[in-house]
Amino acid sequence: MAVNSIRLSLLMFLAMFITSEAELGQPKETKLTLYFQDYSGGPNATVVQITGQPDGLLSFTKFGAIFCTDDPITRGFDPSSAEIARAQGLYVTSALDGSNTHVLISIVFTSEEYKGSTLEIQGSSAQFERVREVAIVGGTGKFRLARGYLTFETIHYDATSYYAVIQCNVTVLH
Ligand SMILES: *[C@@H]1O[C@H](CO)[C@@H](O)[C@H](O)[C@H]1NC(C)=O
Ligand SMILES: *[C@@H]1O[C@H](CO)[C@@H](O)[C@H](O)[C@H]1NC(C)=O
Repeated sequence: MAVNSIRLSLLMFLAMFITSEAELGQPKETKLTLYFQDYSGGPNATVVQITGQPDGLLSFTKFGAIFCTDDPITRGFDPSSAEIARAQGLYVTSALDGSNTHVLISIVFTSEEYKGSTLEIQGSSAQFERVREVAIVGGTGKFRLARGYLTFETIHYDATSYYAVIQCNVTVLH
């Protein structure tokens, strides 16, 4: 009797396991092109430096400099196009010679299909290269168990207003 009930619970356990495997299915690949609207100065700055900033200017090349960011992310290049997410988190200049920054940000989706979901971005970014590639290490909501990569490319920069548009191409399995 005892052996039979153990067998039964084992069967039930296996059945549950098979069902959840089937529900999970194959990971889905999603590709997105997003635009970070980045203001690194002025009254409406979306990037600020946390550590020593005596002259008021951001020192992106200074080893150890830490920046906090909350960039609006739009579907289109134009800053007035629909905002669908925010890029919230930190950048830390992590190479002694200032060439790399460590990116630790969440893409927090605020509208449309992925509203309420996040993608977690972490890794070294060769900040002065034309194209920078950084890992996507996780996610929440519709992006649970996400992994992938993205590229950043600064496609517009206006030094007088400290305004940049960064094109971000996401490839993610989830
Ligand atoms: C900053 O934001 C305020 C409020 O949205 C706006 O009125 C102002 O024009 C902005 N300033 C600049 C320089 O973009
Ligand atoms: C990002 O995607 C856009 C639109 O598909 C494409 O024009 C651009 O070349 C891509 N950038 C990179 C670095 O792959």
